[in-house]
Amino acid sequence: MIAPSILSADFARLADEAAAVASADWLHVDVMDAHFVPNLTIGLPVVKSLRKATDLPLDCHLMIDDPDRWAIAYAEAGAYNVTVHVEAANDPVQLAKNLRAAGAKAGLSLKPGTPLEPCVEVLKHYDTLLVMSVEPGFGGQSFMAEVLDKVRAARRLVDTGHLKLVIEIDGGINADTIEQAAEAGVDCFVAGSAVYDAADPGAALERLREQATRAR
Ligand code: DX5
Ligand code: ZN
Repeated sequence: MIAPSILSADFARLADEAAAVASADWLHVDVMDAHFVPNLTIGLPVVKSLRKATDLPLDCHLMIDDPDRWAIAYAEAGAYNVTVHVEAANDPVQLAKNLRAAGAKAGLSLKPGTPLEPCVEVLKHYDTLLVMSVEPGFGGQSFMAEVLDKVRAARRLVDTGHLKLVIEIDGGINADTIEQAAEAGVDCFVAGSAVYDAADPGAALERLREQATRAR
């Protein structure tokens, strides 16, 4: 699956930018609060408007403090998948239950330096694991290949039935990096600049999908 990130899109033309990637699997929406990460993007009103402007499933990646308090509103706004950061959540198990009760898939994200092992029990309550392959906060950063060990470990846990979730990767995914991520066992690839900086975002996403499918 490919999830273009609208962080690299033109924020004044979000409906058109969503339409430009109509063959995407999910549309990745980066919510930043200038506290959990040193950047500020968009929030709930924009997600509500996007929900009306596109049929694509919205994959909301909340890079915010206190997701226990704020995440449910994104589920209620119609997000398909709501991902919170384990480093920010107070009670991630209860939060996953609340997200599912509100009708969304529950996602848990790990920053590059956050190990997988202590999160495995918590991840049994989640539908998506978002492995960050850059420090969260900005698009256009370089891929950190060292996180692929975490992807391989998660892949083993899924393949042996210990976890049941979609493995997603976010940060620095492009034509040069997507194959190694696919080989490591990623199911869903977020790509911001590699899609939206291209002259034809729809064609760029199809090329990434072909590369990933071949490598996998
Ligand atoms: C970064 C965001 C990413 C970002 C990825 O904190 O979570 O989703 O849009 O951008 P690229 O694909 O350009 O690295
Ligand atoms: Zn993201």
